[in-house]
Amino acid sequence: MPSLLANKWTKVPVFLICLMPLCALIWRTITGNLGANPVEFIQHATGDWTLRFLVFTLCITPLRKLLKLPDLIRFRRMLGLFAFFYACLHFLIYLGPDQSFNLAAIWKDVAKRPFITVGFTAFVLLIPLALTSTAGWIRRLGGRRWQMLHRLIYISAICGVIHYYWLVKSAVLRPLTYGSIVAVLLLWRLGDWFLRRRPTVSRKPVEAGLAPPA
Ligand code: HEM
Repeated sequence: MPSLLANKWTKVPVFLICLMPLCALIWRTITGNLGANPVEFIQHATGDWTLRFLVFTLCITPLRKLLKLPDLIRFRRMLGLFAFFYACLHFLIYLGPDQSFNLAAIWKDVAKRPFITVGFTAFVLLIPLALTSTAGWIRRLGGRRWQMLHRLIYISAICGVIHYYWLVKSAVLRPLTYGSIVAVLLLWRLGDWFLRRRPTVSRKPVEAGLAPPA
């Protein structure tokens, strides 16, 4: 497994798997299999996949530490960019077929409907992350600042979950499931950060300050 993850070619099948939801949507469009309301179908499918890819991206760090598979990190950027890609499709469906590119109406909708406001926030937060995802930007910003910026993905995922929760009205099981996963991942991350910040306690009583030096 570790050698498979380290292999430069492994990214190719992962990339193709990430494209499968798009291929499925194209196939359904060609075969006229998008249900009674095709726009709504695509809107929902792209929204679902955005949230799923956000969760996949957030899972990478805990999994690589818990499973001791450091090379999993090689796939994090790709998964994050796919989250952004599906978010762009989701937003484009809203802009075009849903709102006919009527910018005034869109702006009114964003300001008036809380679930749209929070979805829009989730999307906007992903833009700087996608733009600075390259090695050049990591260098330019410096590792620490880059990491701080990229923590916005948690806020974006939380906004995505709220967006979904406010939209569904009664069938709250799925948004609550996503919410619980994001909460566990966030808590794990905070716990990891807290443990790493704690000064390591030496076992030797002298070094730990519990006994006077001889
Ligand atoms: C990271 C950003 C976003 C995420 C994770 C997200 C996620 C979702 C999810 C999961 C759904 C429901 C899918 C289902 O029912 O199966 C949805 C629906 C929807 N989203 Fe988003 N969304 C995001 C951004 C946006 C933005 C920017 C807009 C528009 C400004 C938007 C507008 C909508 C609309 C109109 C629906 C369908 C509402 C309906 O059926 O009445 N979303 N989104």
